[in-house]
Amino acid sequence: MLDVPFLPFCAFLGTLGLLCVAMVGTWCQHWRGGFSLDGSSRTFNWHPVLMVTGLVVLYGAAALVYRIPNTWSGPKLPWKVLHSSLALGAFVLTVLGLVAVFCFHNSQGTPNMYSLHSWMGLGTVLLFSCQWAAGFGAFLLPWAPTWLRALYKPIHVFFGSTILMLSVASCVSGINEKLFFSLKNGTMEYKLLPAEAVFANTLGLLILIFGVLVVAALARPSWKRPDSDSPDSRMPTPLLRAHLHGSGAQHSDLKMESVCKEGKVQSEMDSGPERGGWEGGGMGWCLV
Ligand code: HEM
Repeated sequence: MLDVPFLPFCAFLGTLGLLCVAMVGTWCQHWRGGFSLDGSSRTFNWHPVLMVTGLVVLYGAAALVYRIPNTWSGPKLPWKVLHSSLALGAFVLTVLGLVAVFCFHNSQGTPNMYSLHSWMGLGTVLLFSCQWAAGFGAFLLPWAPTWLRALYKPIHVFFGSTILMLSVASCVSGINEKLFFSLKNGTMEYKLLPAEAVFANTLGLLILIFGVLVVAALARPSWKRPDSDSPDSRMPTPLLRAHLHGSGAQHSDLKMESVCKEGKVQSEMDSGPERGGWEGGGMGWCLV
C-alpha cells in the first residue's frame, strides 16, 4: 500500500469535501433557481446542500477524528466530545435537509416516500440516529460498563462505515433522480448531456470518491489507534497494578479519567507500544 502520511491525506480530503459542498451549492444556485423558504422548488434546494454537507462531509470528518495521532494518548474525553459533537452537527443538518424536502412535497401536493431514493435515504437517517444514540449511551455516559463498551465498539465501527456508504448511495441516487425530473425538455434533455448534467454527474462522482477515501482511511491499519480492546491491553502492568492496589480500585471499574489524573500512572500509559513501553497494546485502560 502507498505510504501516504495521514495529515496531507486529511488536507486533501478536506479540500475534496469543501469542493463537494461548493459544487452542490453552485448547482442549486446556478441551474435550479437558488434558495428560499416558501415551499417552492427553491425550498427543495436546501435538501441536497444540507444532505451533502451533513451526512457526507461533516459525518466523514466525525468518523476520522480517532485517526488523528494526537488522539492516541492523553485523556480521551475531549476527543469523544468532538466526535459526538461533529456527528450531532451532521445529524442536525440532516434533519433540516429532510424538513426542506418534506415541506416542498407537502406544499406542492406531491406524495411522500414513494421512491427508492427516499426509502434508502430515510433508512440511512434512522440508522444514523440509532448509531448516535447508542454511541452516546455506551461511550459518553459515565456509568456504561466497560464490558458493554468493548462489546459494542466493533458494532459501532462497522455501522460507522456502513452509514457513510449508504449516505453516498442516497446522494448519488438523489442527484440522478433530480436530473431525470428536471432535464426533460428540448436541448436540455438529460440524454443530450447538457452542462448541468455534466456538472451534477461530476458532483456525484466526487461524493463517491470522498466516501471511498474516508472508508479506506478508516480501514487502514497503520492509521488506527493502537489496539485498545485486546484482552491483553486491559491487563494492568505491575506499576498500574500497584497503583490500583494502593487506591483500592478494581480492574473492572477502572475509569481512564480518574486514573490518568495521576502523573505516575499517566506516564506509564504514555509509554505505549509504539513508544517502546509496555506490552500488549496497552492503551485499553485509558481508551475503551
Ligand atoms: C427526497 C433523503 C440526498 C434529491 C428525499 C426523501 C428523503 C430523502 C427521505 C423523501 C422526502 C419525501 O418523500 O417527502 C435523502 C438523504 C440524502 C439525500 C438521506 C443524503 C444522504 C439527496 C441529494 C439529492 C436528493 C444529494 C440531489 C438533488 C431528492 C429528490 C427528492 C428527494 C429529487 C424528491 C423525490 C423523492 O422523494 O425521491 N430525499 N436525500 N437527495 N431527494 Fe433526497
